[in-house]
Amino acid sequence: MEDIFYSNFPSIEHLRERARRRVPGFAFDYLEGGCFSNINLQRNTDEIRQVRLVPWYVRDYAGSNLRTEIFGINYDAPFGVAPIGLQGLVWPRATEILATAAHRHNVPFILSTVATASIEAIAELTQGRAWFQLYHPAEEELRDKLIERTRAAGLPVLVILADTPTFAYRPKEIRNGLAIPPRMTLRNIAQMMLRPRWALSQLGAGAPKFATMQPYLPKGMNIKHLGLFMNQTFSGRLNPARIAALRDRWPGKLVVKGIVTPEDAETCLRLGVDGFIVSNHGGRQLDAGQSTIQPLRTLAKEFGHRTTVMMDSGARSGPDVACAMACGAQFVFMGRSWMYGVAALGKNGGEHTMTMMKRQFKQVMEQLGCARVADLPLHLASGS
Ligand SMILES: Cc1cc2nc3c(=O)[nH]c(=O)nc-3n(C[C@H](O)[C@H](O)[C@H](O)COP(=O)(O)O)c2cc1C
Repeated sequence: MEDIFYSNFPSIEHLRERARRRVPGFAFDYLEGGCFSNINLQRNTDEIRQVRLVPWYVRDYAGSNLRTEIFGINYDAPFGVAPIGLQGLVWPRATEILATAAHRHNVPFILSTVATASIEAIAELTQGRAWFQLYHPAEEELRDKLIERTRAAGLPVLVILADTPTFAYRPKEIRNGLAIPPRMTLRNIAQMMLRPRWALSQLGAGAPKFATMQPYLPKGMNIKHLGLFMNQTFSGRLNPARIAALRDRWPGKLVVKGIVTPEDAETCLRLGVDGFIVSNHGGRQLDAGQSTIQPLRTLAKEFGHRTTVMMDSGARSGPDVACAMACGAQFVFMGRSWMYGVAALGKNGGEHTMTMMKRQFKQVMEQLGCARVADLPLHLASGS
């Protein structure tokens, strides 16, 4: 099958702009927003873009190889799809579209506990290669059931969150009354009427559901507010005992997402974690927090030889991924970028965005004269 690529949308910025015009305001706000005043959100991308790379021009060069191995699995590029909850609200079947595209492009897709497709459905679409992100359930019984389903589906990696100890404060979501189905306020109805293609696609696909969680929703529970549902079902504060219990029960690779300090990284390693993602949840939790590229440098230096250090938050282009890798990330995940692609282009949006990201990233590698992704740190400008 030929790669899908639309030359009208050669960047994430182009896709984002089209997505903004196709998705109702409340759903776009959900995807787009950080928390409080969106400072951390902005800082993530700004500070990745302060990194400087140096090219090697007058050398022999036999081409670049994008292939990357993590956890003993070979991928075609060093980037993948971060977990996003409620994807189907932003665009119908977005979870399935992205999982399928990631599988075809041989990059990892991480399924959120609160995505709109189930563990089993995504395992089937990806032939058991997706990763699963677990929001820590308040009840141990539910935790064990979810781990068992992930194991039975054959998924290789379980990702657990460190950075959601409390439900976030996101002014736009509060104002929009985010709910499934969307709350029928006059404002929300007007926004949906202005986006007929979204509304028709939603009608065709049926109302989005928390598919993995569906069997456990208490009878009659009305998921009026995402916050209420999350608060009742999950308990996000991670501690050593919880990690140890997961380590005991989960036979595959265990990754902690949201690590930003050496102390937390050390605790995770001591408890047998296989790797961590330096992440601040895309700027959605702590507005006064550092950008992820800052702690990444320290953590990669201190832990990169002992474990797998990955990063997300703020990457929007091939150069952004290259800069993160030059600072020591062994793998980079992106959240919003792929979703902009799907919201802009529907069922071909995942394919297009992956083809585009591979082309962008390859161009940077070729420009630098960098043969292997693991060599990117050699191209970090001194003092950068
Ligand atoms: C709308 C939205 C929903 C998200 N939902 C989840 C989730 O359910 N689980 C999770 O681990 N992270 C979630 N995240 C965080 C992402 O996995 C990832 O850390 C973040 O998007 C990376 O930043 P970026 O969007 O700048 O690439 C979400 C992010 C966004 C934007």
